[in-house]
Amino acid sequence: MTSMKIYADKLLMTVSGLLFLMTASAQVEFGPISGDAELGKTSYYDYGCYGCHGFGGIGRKNLANDVSGIMFREDIFLTYLRGRSELNPLFPTQSMPNYPADSLSDADALDIYAYIRTFKDDPPDVEDIPALKAILDGAKAQ
Ligand code: HEC
Repeated sequence: MTSMKIYADKLLMTVSGLLFLMTASAQVEFGPISGDAELGKTSYYDYGCYGCHGFGGIGRKNLANDVSGIMFREDIFLTYLRGRSELNPLFPTQSMPNYPADSLSDADALDIYAYIRTFKDDPPDVEDIPALKAILDGAKAQ
């Protein structure tokens, strides 16, 4: 591992830690939304976010019911999106692509933010899915 990579890893941990402290120490409350969720829906698909985050934000990397704090406020979200491309282009450690402002404008990003804020991961109870309940009950019986 090169020292530059170690440095990037350390910086990543520091930034994550700061984001956590910012959101953990402040009252946990979602900020205002200035974008347009309808436009954001189109951009969410155009920019390929759904490929990893899934339709409705319930994909490999869940965006619904945000718990990390990145989705709490627009400015944190934008900082996160720009982090690797503009604040620290040397970040090689994460698997999310870079989204610099010249490929995804602030306006489009804020529309996407508005759309993501509509996501809810709210699956029905097992009791309400008879087929699944039958499978689980059948497995228990054996
Ligand atoms: C190639 C897969 C991929 C694509 C495409 C992608 N992401 Fe991600 N995203 C990730 C992964 C993986 C993470 C977890 C952190 C990391 O490794 O970068 C993540 C993390 C995030 C987070 C932080 C989630 C949290 O609370 O921890 C947000 C917000 C986010 N992505 C938004 C977006 C948006 C908006 C787009 C489209 C403009 C997008 N992502 C496109 C893979 C992707």
